[in-house]
Amino acid sequence: MDILKKIEMFREEEEKLRWEGTFGDYLELLKEKPWVAQSAHSRVYNMIRDAGIEEEKGTRKYNFFSHQLFGLEEALEKLVEEYFHPAAKRLDVRKRILLLMGPVSGGKSTLVTMLKRGLEQYSLTDRGSIFAIKGCPMHEDPLHLIPHHLRQDFFDEYGIRIEGNLSPLNMMRLEQEYGGRIEDVLVERIFFSEDKRVGIGTFSPSDPKSQDIADLTGSIDFSTIAEFGSESDPRAYRFDGELNKANRGMMEFQEMLKCDEKFLWHLLSLTQEGNFKAGRFALISADELIVAHTNETEYRSFISNKKNEALHSRIIVMPIPYNLKVSQEERIYEKMIHESDVADVHIAPHTLRVAAMFTILTRLKEPKKGDVDLVKKMRLYDGQLVEGFNSADVNEMKKEHPDEGMSGIDPRYVINRISSTIIRKEVPSINALDVLKSLKDGLDQHPSITQEQRERYLNYISIARKEYDNIAKKEVQKAFVYSYEESAKTLMDNYLDNVEAYCNKAKLRDPLTGEEINPDEKLMRSIEEQIGISENAKKAFREEILIRISAFARKGKRFDYNSHDRLREAIQKKLFADLKDVVKITTSTKTPDEQQLKKINDVVARLIDEHGYNSTSANELLRYVGSLLNR
Ligand SMILES: Nc1ncnc2c1ncn2[C@@H]1O[C@H](COP(=O)(O)OP(=O)(O)OP(=O)(O)O)[C@@H](O)[C@H]1O
Ligand SMILES: [Mg+2]
Repeated sequence: MDILKKIEMFREEEEKLRWEGTFGDYLELLKEKPWVAQSAHSRVYNMIRDAGIEEEKGTRKYNFFSHQLFGLEEALEKLVEEYFHPAAKRLDVRKRILLLMGPVSGGKSTLVTMLKRGLEQYSLTDRGSIFAIKGCPMHEDPLHLIPHHLRQDFFDEYGIRIEGNLSPLNMMRLEQEYGGRIEDVLVERIFFSEDKRVGIGTFSPSDPKSQDIADLTGSIDFSTIAEFGSESDPRAYRFDGELNKANRGMMEFQEMLKCDEKFLWHLLSLTQEGNFKAGRFALISADELIVAHTNETEYRSFISNKKNEALHSRIIVMPIPYNLKVSQEERIYEKMIHESDVADVHIAPHTLRVAAMFTILTRLKEPKKGDVDLVKKMRLYDGQLVEGFNSADVNEMKKEHPDEGMSGIDPRYVINRISSTIIRKEVPSINALDVLKSLKDGLDQHPSITQEQRERYLNYISIARKEYDNIAKKEVQKAFVYSYEESAKTLMDNYLDNVEAYCNKAKLRDPLTGEEINPDEKLMRSIEEQIGISENAKKAFREEILIRISAFARKGKRFDYNSHDRLREAIQKKLFADLKDVVKITTSTKTPDEQQLKKINDVVARLIDEHGYNSTSANELLRYVGSLLNR
């Protein structure tokens, strides 16, 4: 479908969602769908809940976050269950500013953006729909129209609690436009949109000297004072600050702790009392979620300042630490690369995983219990099995360092190093060694790394390198073994021919010369020894095999490679032992002969077809493994 058609369809969809009616109609609607009158916090919580929650090994996984934020399950569970959930229930935490605290590039902005974009989408759904007094710049809650003395009656009838006062502007409109007839006031459905400044706002402090509080709370429109006669006429006021515009939804407060105090005090009253002061009006009620973010250093210096004491108790701090799972870190890189300009570059298998190992190691704290090292801890955190440890040990380890994940290498650093590798190498393919090297080189330029840290990090790079060496060796061997599937069959046939001749005390015929020859004792033993069959036991073993073959034959079944477990094991082991040298020689020879060349080509083809390499990275891998085996 072409894009214009889609745009048209989208517009039609939106058109269908529009709703306008009188306050009387709105009350009818509330009877049917009471949830449309929910508070901003409750809407955020329900948005998260409606996307689905999965329970996995005792931790909750919120689908709302899980397609973009990886490895933060525990932090998100705390955030949702200790802030959003109770806030939705109108408990006291709702009256506090939510402050996400975490290390750089740890996903704080991503999280906030997801909430914002999520709310925009959610307001298009039935469950997330939201209504406002028509024509109000702050999208005021229509229920504010109900006078205070009737609110208890309203609650008794509708089960909905009303908070907040009718704003001065709508108070005036009610009198002037509707002659005081509340039931006639027009109400409309609104759709959150940051671009259109409906229900979603962002406040970003600039120079404190020049920045005006108007950015937050709106300002007087001097050009209209002449028309309306006075500054305190609400029609002469522009309710266009971020707090006004974000009413009913959420406002992101960037760099909150760098902000001038006067801005913070406005927030205090808003969060605490649900209202703020603007111009010469009575307090204006607003209902919105305020989210700010900061890093640990900034936060510490903020709370150590006596002047900010009153603010502390009104902020709820939620830690957003780094992810500590290798496999999730790998997903983060995949996502970031996918979103970047280098998305079409070939990245050899295991490259991101190895980079992730390094990163996670820099974030982990040394375990206090003696018998576990950092690499084991890394594996355990990633959910892998490590002999001698269970999930209780993992939980204990996590408790050892509550601040784990608040420091270490950030994902953006890794992505920057990967991009610079790509640019420098000038080939459309990079591998784990390229990236490890680049990570290492980058440490010299990293502005915030101490000498001590640098040494520790270099050590982690060599650990990651060792992990990679093992992965690489296994990968190549695997590729060789599969190309040997045929050889395994040949080897077994050969073994069986010899066994048959041995048991029947017969001779074999040399396939080339036609000469009669004795069974090849050396070959048979070299296979049998792989599974520990002694000289004395060999006869019995060979006879057993023959009996098995004839039993198969009687049933009309073919005896093949998989028909006898121990024999199969022996053949595989023998192949692997032979392979070691083949791999070693084939991968390291500078002038391969015809046969070796064919083998190399087969292996390369297999690496490409079955293991995700391209021809550059497959050849690089072979060369590297060759050099490893010859060390
Ligand atoms: N746990 C994670 N899951 C998915 N992506 C992540 C995660 N952590 C970081 N990222 C990615 O890293 C990049 C930086 O994240 P983001 O900008 O959200 O961090 P931040 O905490 O706001 O950093 P800063 O303190 O520098 O503002 C983004 O592309 C983000 O998607
Ligand atoms: Mg950020």
